[in-house]
Amino acid sequence: MQVALKIWRYDPIAGERALREYEFDAPEWATLLDCLDIVKDRIDGTLAYRKSCRMMICGSCGMRMNGAAVLACKTRMYDIAQAGEVPVISAMGNLPIVKDLVVDMEPFWGKIRAVTPWLEPGYTEPVEKERVVSQERMDVIHKESLCIMCGCCVSECNSMEADPDFLGPAALAKGMRFVGDARDEATVERLQEYSNPHGIWDCTRCYFCQERCPKGVDPRDAIAKLGAEAVRHGIDSDMGAKHAKWFVTSSKTTGWLRETELVPKTQGIAASIKEVKFAMGLLTHGKVPPPVPPHVAKDVGEARALYDLVKTQERAGAAGIVQGEKALSRLEFEDDGGERDPYGEGSFPKPLPVDKDGNE
Ligand code: SF4
Ligand code: SF4
Ligand code: FES
Repeated sequence: MQVALKIWRYDPIAGERALREYEFDAPEWATLLDCLDIVKDRIDGTLAYRKSCRMMICGSCGMRMNGAAVLACKTRMYDIAQAGEVPVISAMGNLPIVKDLVVDMEPFWGKIRAVTPWLEPGYTEPVEKERVVSQERMDVIHKESLCIMCGCCVSECNSMEADPDFLGPAALAKGMRFVGDARDEATVERLQEYSNPHGIWDCTRCYFCQERCPKGVDPRDAIAKLGAEAVRHGIDSDMGAKHAKWFVTSSKTTGWLRETELVPKTQGIAASIKEVKFAMGLLTHGKVPPPVPPHVAKDVGEARALYDLVKTQERAGAAGIVQGEKALSRLEFEDDGGERDPYGEGSFPKPLPVDKDGNE
């Protein structure tokens, strides 16, 4: 098949960028990575890009096609070539470009290191007996464990673009991989750390990371689960946590989001006083309802019934997150005896069961 690509080249010595077009023959099974190999082998040996496994495992070949992050070895070119399209290939976003399609991954690894990406089992000496964890318990963090560290999510993160210090989707998904691990004993410390500025609550919930992740890790869902777990553990001093809690209170009591109370409930009274002039402007232009009497929705009973239902089901923390594809169902499993989760419904994570001799 005939393939055409436009590639953003970057020469680090001259500091120049240029969009170059390449046309060539490629086999019908070719991926974007195969096409880049053809360009490098036959047309321009100076083209720089990363690759290793060629089979969506190593995470080396992240780049952008038409502005969206992809794994080059996962992207088939047949349909694109047949449609006569000429896609634009560029380096991933939010990371410094070293040359052409190669980015400096050090900022990425720095964020990963910052979330303590290893198990903290609570002991330092080897234990005599192997700690067996059921498949069902590991299923809770199945998606987060699939991450191949490709950086595609980081490339697309709006919050990182505004705040390069934001931990970002890959690191926070890695954090959830350990918060959700039944063997980890540092849950509270982790949640406190991840709730600091530039952490969990700085995510804008744009879902771009989730959309672009080539491995189905669903990093935004992982961040939502971390937020829910933080609130469940009483780690809620961040404005983001207060904001989320007020959404629930406001919906439960009036069926509406009461914007006029949102700022004081989130930022505190002192900080809100500075916003009075702005608030008065909104009020006089009819942009917000007067705070008194509170606007109560006609069908507020439905919102309250929903709240009560969730309470009855004892859904708290990550067990209450329903926005992810299968987040909730993954938390609902039965043990081998056909009974409910032995740690309690929706529990997350708790000590491993012990036998009659007290061994895990
Ligand atoms: S959902 Fe959050 S973490 Fe994901 S890309 Fe958007 S801002 Fe970044
Ligand atoms: S979460 Fe997905 S997109 Fe992000 S680094 Fe991991 S595999 Fe890549
Ligand atoms: S070359 Fe390894 S993921 Fe693409």
